[in-house]
Amino acid sequence: MDTAIDQTSSGRDGHTAWQSQPPSAIVEFILTRFHEPLRRDLPVLIASAREVETAAHGHALCPTGLAVHLEQIRVAVESHLAKEEKILFPLIVAGRGALALMPIRVMMSEHEDHLENLAKTRALTRDFALPADASQAWGELYRELQRLEDELNQHIALENNVLFPRVMGSDLP
Ligand SMILES: [Fe+2]
Ligand SMILES: [Fe+2]
Repeated sequence: MDTAIDQTSSGRDGHTAWQSQPPSAIVEFILTRFHEPLRRDLPVLIASAREVETAAHGHALCPTGLAVHLEQIRVAVESHLAKEEKILFPLIVAGRGALALMPIRVMMSEHEDHLENLAKTRALTRDFALPADASQAWGELYRELQRLEDELNQHIALENNVLFPRVMGSDLP
């Protein structure tokens, strides 16, 4: 992986450097930069949310239902990553991405679901509002959830706005 591309491409508007890269390089970057961390981090976030919910039970700002919601996100995300890795990305790497219109449509639809799930995370945490007496674990959980949101937004933008249009040879309508 090219470190310069890694750094310039992780920002919200940092897609320019990818436009000249082959789709297989974009796929490789997505796998290491986004897919692996998601699989590693989501179970940790769920366990942390469960502990915070238990400790904050009865508190006005307790994020009741957060652990269950994050578990639903984990199931949806892992299913999505598996489809990309088993079906769509192999077609792209093999140079057969032009045959992948339907899988791409399905992935874009699932991205919409992920964004709705992120909005629900914000609703459950009242936009990550912490009480003055929040525990260290509670603060750390919300920081990590904001990082999850930021990275999922970057991940989806790179797929929707750079990788998929490149593979299809033009911007999708
Ligand atoms: Fe992905
Ligand atoms: Fe995706």
